[in-house]
Amino acid sequence: MPSVASEALEVLYSRAQIAERVAEMGAQITRDFQGEKLVMVGVLKGAAFFLSDLSRAVDVDATFDFVATSSYGSGQRSSGAVKLIKDLDQPIEGKNVLIVEDILDTGLTLAYLRKVFLQQRPKSLRIAALLDKPSRRIEKIEADYVGFSIPNLFVIGYGMDYAERYRNLADICIMAPTHPE
Ligand code: IMP
Ligand code: MG
Repeated sequence: MPSVASEALEVLYSRAQIAERVAEMGAQITRDFQGEKLVMVGVLKGAAFFLSDLSRAVDVDATFDFVATSSYGSGQRSSGAVKLIKDLDQPIEGKNVLIVEDILDTGLTLAYLRKVFLQQRPKSLRIAALLDKPSRRIEKIEADYVGFSIPNLFVIGYGMDYAERYRNLADICIMAPTHPE
């Protein structure tokens, strides 16, 4: 575990708070998909821990798939354009699909994925986002399941990175910008 002591990091949500909220989200998803099958699609890499914890809190017949999109580049700034770097392995036509994403920020990524997935005619398409930053939204899109709604902060840990680092922090932390952009 990397030490957070030497960095300008502050815990926003502890591992215990995350676990509690993810369990609640799992219970809600279980109720909503009772008796149905579900394809949980994790958005790599940030949603890796969220998918692994959420899926184990969901008591329905579930399978996994993963996609990867172009992301923030190397810093805190989005490039704006979204590209699919890794597509689904299995067709989703006629299936209940739950996109599992770490953060709903500008909404560009999820609006793009929603458009691409809907072209495959799933039975249903929903979104679970651990974090939501509504004040940053560019595309009109909301998640069906939200862990925590947060102000415009840059966060790391529990899968989320800054320049690929800090994903393995167990808590969600706030990182203050260390250089002007
Ligand atoms: P969007 O397309 O702007 O909604 O951004 C979605 C992606 O940006 C997320 O899946 C994250 O990978 C990344 N992102 C947005 N905000 C943060 C943050 O605060 N920390 C780390 N990654 C972030
Ligand atoms: Mg991501």
